[in-house]
Amino acid sequence: MKIVVIQGPNLNMLGMREQNIYGPMKLEDIHKQMKNFADQNGVEIEFFQSNLEGEIVDRIQECLGDADGIIINPAAYTHTSIAIRDALAAVKIPAIEVHLSNIYAREEFRHKSLTAPVCAGQISGMGPFVYHLAMVGMLQVFNEIKMIKEKQAKRKEA
Ligand code: DQA
Repeated sequence: MKIVVIQGPNLNMLGMREQNIYGPMKLEDIHKQMKNFADQNGVEIEFFQSNLEGEIVDRIQECLGDADGIIINPAAYTHTSIAIRDALAAVKIPAIEVHLSNIYAREEFRHKSLTAPVCAGQISGMGPFVYHLAMVGMLQVFNEIKMIKEKQAKRKEA
């Protein structure tokens, strides 16, 4: 099974960007922890960060036939991007949306996510730990898909 992690604009600046909101951890360190967890669980993982909406749309499309799950922090595009929402809906790959900060405790314009409704779920707040929770959530999604497929195979046999 393979997970693609997609990081939106300004997340390349984690560690120096608004530390009071996003904390001191750098993106590469978050990715190292995710890679360790993926290795421990026999899951393949790839990372992608872009500040450009179209590049994020392209990367989501490239997941078709390649990835089994997407963990995405669309960052500011969460609140504005119909294009990223449509791409997630088009590929129909289970996606989990994450936010380091609790977007519902911040400015009102951050309260709405255009992308969350086409995701399996959203995790918001608790800093970098959200990425770990998303990995655990994704493993659960993979298990559920596996169980459904096994049931379908048994039904065909009967
Ligand atoms: C963010 C929250 C967004 O509102 C913001 O634009 C970001 C980061 C988060 O991870 O908390 O860039 O997605």
